[in-house]
Amino acid sequence: MAGPISQIVGTGSYLPERILTNHELAEKVDTTNEWIVERTGIHERHVARDGELTSDLAFHAATRALEAAQVLPQEVDLIIVATTTPDHTFPATATRVQAMLDTRNGFAFDVQAVCSGFIYGLSIADNFIRSGQVRTAVVIGAETMTRLLDWNDRGTCVLFGDGAGAVVLKAGVGERGILCTHLHSNGHHYDLLHASGGPSWTQTAGYLRMQGKEVFRHAVVNLASVVDEALKSTGLEQKDIDWLVPHQANRRIIDGTAKKLGLPPSRVVLTIEKHANTSAASVPLALDTAVRDGRIQPGHLVLMEAMGGGLTWGAGLVRW
Ligand code: ACO
Repeated sequence: MAGPISQIVGTGSYLPERILTNHELAEKVDTTNEWIVERTGIHERHVARDGELTSDLAFHAATRALEAAQVLPQEVDLIIVATTTPDHTFPATATRVQAMLDTRNGFAFDVQAVCSGFIYGLSIADNFIRSGQVRTAVVIGAETMTRLLDWNDRGTCVLFGDGAGAVVLKAGVGERGILCTHLHSNGHHYDLLHASGGPSWTQTAGYLRMQGKEVFRHAVVNLASVVDEALKSTGLEQKDIDWLVPHQANRRIIDGTAKKLGLPPSRVVLTIEKHANTSAASVPLALDTAVRDGRIQPGHLVLMEAMGGGLTWGAGLVRW
């Protein structure tokens, strides 16, 4: 008999109130709205207010996802927070979210895979559910990326924003749910995208550093290959995909991936314009946007993919 399948029974997201437009940025940084829009597709981003932490963003997104799923926090066995901007070096931000949700069952931990973190978290939760160890999981991608930015580095400070997205997974039966996840990393490219600090290295968090062109090059190749892998493993074809929900790092990367898949822009969920790159939060934020506005419907085939520092990358296929 087939084992349980992980069904996404609710989604939620949260964006800090403050919006920072390209025009405002151009007053502080040597850049222009035109450069940012043309190279990235970003128009604005949300920025957490002073004292608003990654756990706050994660908590709001998780609460909304649980409400949508009509699941009580007490029913949750597992909380995963994918983040590269935790509240503290330790303990895990997920344990703080566990306390904020006032759940006392199960366990909570963080996943660090930078922009691929949500796909990693989804894959881990899916495996716990398939093995029977967990029945209900909340997977959250939450980031305060603006806290890691060097506002003197125009090549990176215009690219990122803050936010959180979450999904509730439940063990179910049938054909609907997570069909597959595929994860990869290549540590030989560790330096292409990293923070210039860390507890063991400088005892400070450091600033985000990126060799943008190189990362771009790897993203195009790695994303195409992991998407192919996901389709092959399930026997599905490009034409079967209803929605591409990509990591929102750069509009040009997203357009390239969609083109390779033969997907028209109308079947790609794009949030980069308003959210910028929210790292691990970007995929669940985009997913929640398309679920709440009614684009993603039961029975649809949804393809998620992401690549980030590490380098790490991955994809997941879900029958909604
Ligand atoms: N405003 C104006 N000019 C700028 C800016 C700016 N904000 N930033 C850079 N420039 C200039 C550069 O100085 C350079 O000028 P030069 O030619 O006189 O030297 C010129 O613009 C071109 O710079 P490039 O870095 O070559 O620009 P590129 O077209 O590569 O775009 C970008 C840069 C947007 C960062 C792109 O490389 C990219 O999106 N890379 C991939 C990002 C990504 O996928 N990240 C993965 C996930 S992130 C994570 O895991 C945390």
